[in-house]
Amino acid sequence: MKKSSTFATSSLRADQAVRRGPAVRILVDGWPVDAFEGESVAAALFAAGRRELRRSPRDHAPRGMFCLMGSCQECLVWVEGRKLPACQVPAVAGMEVESLGFREERLG
Ligand code: FES
Repeated sequence: MKKSSTFATSSLRADQAVRRGPAVRILVDGWPVDAFEGESVAAALFAAGRRELRRSPRDHAPRGMFCLMGSCQECLVWVEGRKLPACQVPAVAGMEVESLGFREERLG
């Protein structure tokens, strides 16, 4: 019996036995990112290949998702005017997300 993989080779998304919301598109730093409604913004970003979400204020080291349960705050992003952990925000069609660095540059 052939063993099947639960992961697609061209994507990090699980491809079997997963119930998902409908496919949606969110806007991250002005770029469209594919997501599934209800999955976290962090999951959508990770699946899209984004690993760095901000830079540490002290030494400017790249920071990204770490705990994925809302504790570490490493994944902070701006979501429609509020600074929130991306791992705790469900994706919704048309949602606008900005990384901290992108927003700082945009606002000067
Ligand atoms: S990854 Fe830790 S709060 Fe989001």
